[in-house]
Amino acid sequence: MGPTPPWARAGRRVRLHAMKWVLGIESSCDETGVAVVGYQPQSHDTPVLGAHALHSQIDMHQAYGGVVPELASRDHIRRVLPLTTQVLQQARLGLADIDCVAYTRGPGLAGALLVGAGVACALGAALGRPVLGVHHLEGHLLSPFLSADAPEFPFVALLVSGGHTQLMAVESLGNYRILGETIDDAAGEAFDKSAKLLGLPYPGGPALSRLAERGDALAFKLPRPLLHSGDLDFSFAGLKTAVLTQARKLGDGLSERQADLAASTQAAIVEVLLKKTLAALTQTGIQRLVVAGGVGANQSLREALSAACRQRGVRVHYPELHLCTDNGAMIAMAAALRLQAGLAQPRQDYAFDVKPRWPLDETTSPIPI
Ligand code: KG4
Ligand code: ZN
Repeated sequence: MGPTPPWARAGRRVRLHAMKWVLGIESSCDETGVAVVGYQPQSHDTPVLGAHALHSQIDMHQAYGGVVPELASRDHIRRVLPLTTQVLQQARLGLADIDCVAYTRGPGLAGALLVGAGVACALGAALGRPVLGVHHLEGHLLSPFLSADAPEFPFVALLVSGGHTQLMAVESLGNYRILGETIDDAAGEAFDKSAKLLGLPYPGGPALSRLAERGDALAFKLPRPLLHSGDLDFSFAGLKTAVLTQARKLGDGLSERQADLAASTQAAIVEVLLKKTLAALTQTGIQRLVVAGGVGANQSLREALSAACRQRGVRVHYPELHLCTDNGAMIAMAAALRLQAGLAQPRQDYAFDVKPRWPLDETTSPIPI
């Protein structure tokens, strides 16, 4: 027997007989994630994570300096079923225990999404269980519900990933109002593109932030785009150009000043995210903040937000560090929360499509299918 699965540990008061299990599959980009989350129907208890497993394709894409969509799709095909077996074993569940199969329907890479959607629908059909397409960003948004300190509604959400940067007023489950968003690059893209200019490997965000730890954030004066625009929109494309200009100016001297330039870049991104987030809290009067998406793993951003929120008496929630970037647990959790609240329409005809582009505020309750 392996270790006791998290959902069965003492103190969780899980009534197994009433539990419904959702299998979640994430395959929108370069991570294959699978998880099971259990919930009690008609209850207000937060759903619990049974187990999750992840395969990152970073090593495979690193040689190309970014994600190669065709390679991503093929690798998802290879990984998704072994990961499913692993997750079920870890949670001590069988396929017959699964009540619903959830998958990321969008946004993301079309081919990669199709793998998760196809496998989820095939599993659903084979098991005679319904399937549910989940919005990837809703998964990120609700990922702090996987941590011990789950948020309560309403909250302001700062969603910072590789493809999106958005501030949202989240009144309740499925009720998402976009307050501001990037007009060009996402925060994660700003990290990744700047890192590339500094000669760092893909994905640049974590590499740049590690390097920044030993640099001087005041060494280079970089722009803070739209900082004083009076609205809650972001723009990061100009920052990348400024980093390029600095890198060119430094020429051979870049390697010596690499850490300083990394620290200055990170400081510029963090300052804009911080100021706009605080403005969103002021504008909405909401005293709770959720930070989600890959860039939410950034320590400097976490420290800046936590300090400012502490001063204002605002509660701030982050996903656990390993659940900031893409994973199956957030997809299974988003589906479980919707199913528990009666805000989803799982389907049993197993016809599927994917939505590579899909604005989050179009996911009204219930999910339009
Ligand atoms: O949410 P995510 O896994 O994928 C998308 O949905 O896009 O986010 C990936 C992004 C990448 O741009 C990556 O560089 C960035 O999150 N990222 C970070 C850190 N960890 C991941 N950026 C800054 N600091 C980090 N520690
Ligand atoms: Zn993501």
